[in-house]
Amino acid sequence: MAVTGREMTREITTHSPEETIAFGRTLAELLSPPKLVLLRGDLGAGKTTLVKGIAAGFEAAEEEDVTSPTFTLVHEYRGPRANLYHIDLYRVDTQRELETLGLDDLRSESSVLLIEWGEKFPRFLRERDVEISLERESEDGRRINISD
Ligand SMILES: Nc1ncnc2c1ncn2[C@@H]1O[C@H](COP(=O)(O)OP(=O)(O)OP(=O)(O)O)[C@@H](O)[C@H]1O
Ligand SMILES: [Mg+2]
Repeated sequence: MAVTGREMTREITTHSPEETIAFGRTLAELLSPPKLVLLRGDLGAGKTTLVKGIAAGFEAAEEEDVTSPTFTLVHEYRGPRANLYHIDLYRVDTQRELETLGLDDLRSESSVLLIEWGEKFPRFLRERDVEISLERESEDGRRINISD
């Protein structure tokens, strides 16, 4: 689950939240800005848990300070190499609601957008640079797949 040379592991199965966070830390290199990243997977798949590791890998937040933007919809974490925006569109259903979030204004050379439930809106399926999907294999087992 590490970076070997310039190759990045494309698929991994983790067996605990801690392992998913550790894997997220290794993704900071792959996700150098600017990026729009879709995080896909069912409720409880581990998307937010992975973001804890990604934010820590970017030195933008302590993992325990990364919480789900369920109601706030957008959380911002500023690091030395990137500004991360963790976005949860689970409760966003209309184009109009989406527009009020002003996500386009967040995109810049130094930004990494990490979007949960972004696949609800076709434009993000088109615009995404990387897609990370998480699948629950067992109580604590999660298969994580990265495609770009
Ligand atoms: N290997 C694992 N990786 C990640 N999370 C795990 C793992 N095993 C168990 N879990 C548990 O699964 C849950 C994942 O929750 P998390 O909030 O990260 O999911 P989510 O995909 O963001 O869900 P939602 O769509 O509701 O926001 C946590 O309770 C976590 O402790
Ligand atoms: Mg979540």
